[in-house]
Amino acid sequence: MKHGLNETIQVLAKKHGLDLSMYNEQFLEQIVEKRMMLSHVHDLLEYQRYISGNQDEVDTLRRSVNITHTEFFRNTLTFAHLEQWILPSLFEKRQEANELRIWSAGCSSGQEAYSIAILIENLQARNSKHLRYRIIATDIVESALAQAVEGIYRESEVQRLRLHDVHTFFTGKGDMYEVSDTLKQHVWFHTYDLLDNESAYPHESIFGNFDLVVCSNLLFYYKPEFRHGIMRKLINSMNPNGFLITGEAERQSTELFSEVYAVVPPSPIYRLRRNVQ
Ligand SMILES: C[S@@+](CC[C@H](N)C(=O)[O-])C[C@H]1O[C@@H](n2cnc3c(N)ncnc32)[C@H](O)[C@@H]1O
Repeated sequence: MKHGLNETIQVLAKKHGLDLSMYNEQFLEQIVEKRMMLSHVHDLLEYQRYISGNQDEVDTLRRSVNITHTEFFRNTLTFAHLEQWILPSLFEKRQEANELRIWSAGCSSGQEAYSIAILIENLQARNSKHLRYRIIATDIVESALAQAVEGIYRESEVQRLRLHDVHTFFTGKGDMYEVSDTLKQHVWFHTYDLLDNESAYPHESIFGNFDLVVCSNLLFYYKPEFRHGIMRKLINSMNPNGFLITGEAERQSTELFSEVYAVVPPSPIYRLRRNVQ
């Protein structure tokens, strides 16, 4: 399969301008196999013929490699760490005049960014101190970003939230739930490709220097050298006292980086090493 797959990848790039060379091979195999099954095609050579002159299939394959599945409070342990000490410690150290800056990189339809905003709002409600905060949430899939901006979710998605948070931060719209303006005003959604070598961070953020960077459940889709490039970008965008969080299954991605260390192994929460005191 591997040899045939490499050839298919080359054909897709050459004939259809679809560059899949950055994706992890096992992941691509699964995606192409699924497309072949759904297209009733039995081998890769036949698939190459099938996709030739079939723009719909090229577009479907392009969409299939962008897995956008997400959930509110998806990585339970990570969100517990965020709620119990990371956000409180960022709050404690911050002067009221300074904005808290957060980047949700690969935010899909926004649930990750809104989950963080809920934790911050709840923290503010328990505190006399009120800080300005901004969450820059970025992705490459326009349709996911459009849903994120709209902030309307199905009941089944909202069920992961605490009842208190649903009542406080959502308004019922038929059988759907819309995120309140209280959260929306703090979360800015933008298109940004983490593989873009021309920029260090989304230009809408004006400058990097993020107190918290969350990039979860996307690194494992890429080959090591591309994961490495994304990690380098994320690390460079951190405030010297900031935190970086990857997906729980993506912990190995940081092993190559001597400037960060895992704060609470085995969870994927990192800080810059030069700040160890
Ligand atoms: C599986 S979702 C994970 C969403 C969320 N971070 C979470 O953990 O639930 C991965 C997201 O990363 C986005 N993504 C993948 N490659 C990207 C890239 N190069 N630049 C920006 N976003 C990317 C995808 O479009 C998708 O929305």
